[in-house]
Amino acid sequence: MKSAAGRPIVFGNWKMHGLRADAGTITSALAKAAPLAAGRLGVFPPFTVLREVVQALDGTGIVVGGQDCHHAAKGAFTGSISAPMLADAGATAVLLGHSERRHGLGETDQDVNAKAVAALDAGLATIVICIGETEAQFVADETLDVLDRQLASSIPADMPAERLVIAYEPVWAIGTGRTPSEDDIARVHAHVRSRLTGQLAGGADVPIQYGGSVKGANADKLLAVPGVDGALVGGACLDPAEFLKIFIAGGGRTAPGSVVA
Ligand code: PGA
Repeated sequence: MKSAAGRPIVFGNWKMHGLRADAGTITSALAKAAPLAAGRLGVFPPFTVLREVVQALDGTGIVVGGQDCHHAAKGAFTGSISAPMLADAGATAVLLGHSERRHGLGETDQDVNAKAVAALDAGLATIVICIGETEAQFVADETLDVLDRQLASSIPADMPAERLVIAYEPVWAIGTGRTPSEDDIARVHAHVRSRLTGQLAGGADVPIQYGGSVKGANADKLLAVPGVDGALVGGACLDPAEFLKIFIAGGGRTAPGSVVA
């Protein structure tokens, strides 16, 4: 997936937040303010409200995706959700390999790869693969090696570049209020870009988002870093005004007359 005119793509990961009433509040604010998001704004709500969010945002151009999927299309996997189920609910995207799944639930690069294959088979248009180093790896200067391994193993060999988005999220920056320096982010994004270019036909055009403590207050700075093609936002995306502020910082426009605090 490539944004129109190469402008940044801002996605919001609701994580395990969002009862039906919350989802209604968020989607009505987003639908009013950003009716022409044209694939550059997206939300990843919990499965329980996915269908409602799809319906509420229908026609707005805002992407709706699932936060994970199983590697099998169906089967005896209690509690799991398959990629065809996401597509059946109207989702067009999926988030894979988030650090809370890699580090919290032991998900491996091979798991992420198999899930990406399932998402491709189910016809999901946009597959976001998250990568990132832990704080210990950052301190030990292992960041680029870790990312190389994650890129090489998590992305299916035949992944069509236009359906891939990479989210670089240092694990230690997620939900902590801390971010790498702009120089560090630029260095990492340039490295990831060169690896993607070597690994994948069309890899030079795959959007690379930065994620980890992106807020309205630092979005201007982070989205202006060379090589940053957008943001994957956690906590700040639950407040639509804050989320739209980040979208605007990335060059997004909202509807005339919409109020964005
Ligand atoms: P955060 O989360 O914005 O709350 O740091 C980012 C993410 O987990 O994608």
